[in-house]
Amino acid sequence: MSPNTAAGAADQSVTTVAAASSAASIAPSGESEARTTPADAARTIPSAPEYAAQGEPIGALVYFSSASENTARFVAGCHLEQHGINVYRVPLRPADPPLNVREPYVIMVPTYGGGVIKKAVPIQVKRFLNDPENRAWIRGVIASGNTNFGEAYCAAGNIISAKCHVPFLYKYELMGTPEDTAAVRDGLTRFFAS
Ligand SMILES: Cc1cc2nc3c(=O)[nH]c(=O)nc-3n(C[C@H](O)[C@H](O)[C@H](O)COP(=O)(O)O)c2cc1C
Repeated sequence: MSPNTAAGAADQSVTTVAAASSAASIAPSGESEARTTPADAARTIPSAPEYAAQGEPIGALVYFSSASENTARFVAGCHLEQHGINVYRVPLRPADPPLNVREPYVIMVPTYGGGVIKKAVPIQVKRFLNDPENRAWIRGVIASGNTNFGEAYCAAGNIISAKCHVPFLYKYELMGTPEDTAAVRDGLTRFFAS
């Protein structure tokens, strides 16, 4: 599968929500970055998954989670590796090695704007997506948040969907419910199989 050719419609069992445009500092698709340092060149080496797919991979999930780890717990409970999905984690700290993903993936991101929509995407996720070699493989987005933030609930999903031109596949609150776990696991399996 080649980059940016398979951003198809979501499976019916995955909730598709409308994408809305919003201001964010993710570079538009197609924007290139000059490689001028050895560190830049090293980014082209694919990273190892946190959870490696059992058998031939059908796709990947890339997720971010802060120190509170709500998203990390949700992802661990999905057991996506048992369904042929590689799982990668976006590094939390600037000193951590950069994440390089070179296969089709859906990104899962908690919203972190404190109610300010234009700040909804965590800086770590912006950094990951601003690498054109990572951004080339994005196929969809799943967002989480807290309904206490009203209109900014899960706003990171709207921003990434609009900026990267991929479907906003699903949203859930905090650590999710067992129903969210099943919807994400089954929805991703069908999404990558289609
Ligand atoms: C400082 C802060 C700002 C947040 N801002 C938003 C927000 O604007 N919209 C939203 O839906 N949720 C917001 N949340 C809720 C988080 O998205 C939610 O707690 C999420 O589960 C955190 O995931 P993590 O523990 O994996 O980092 C915010 C949480 C914190 C701590």
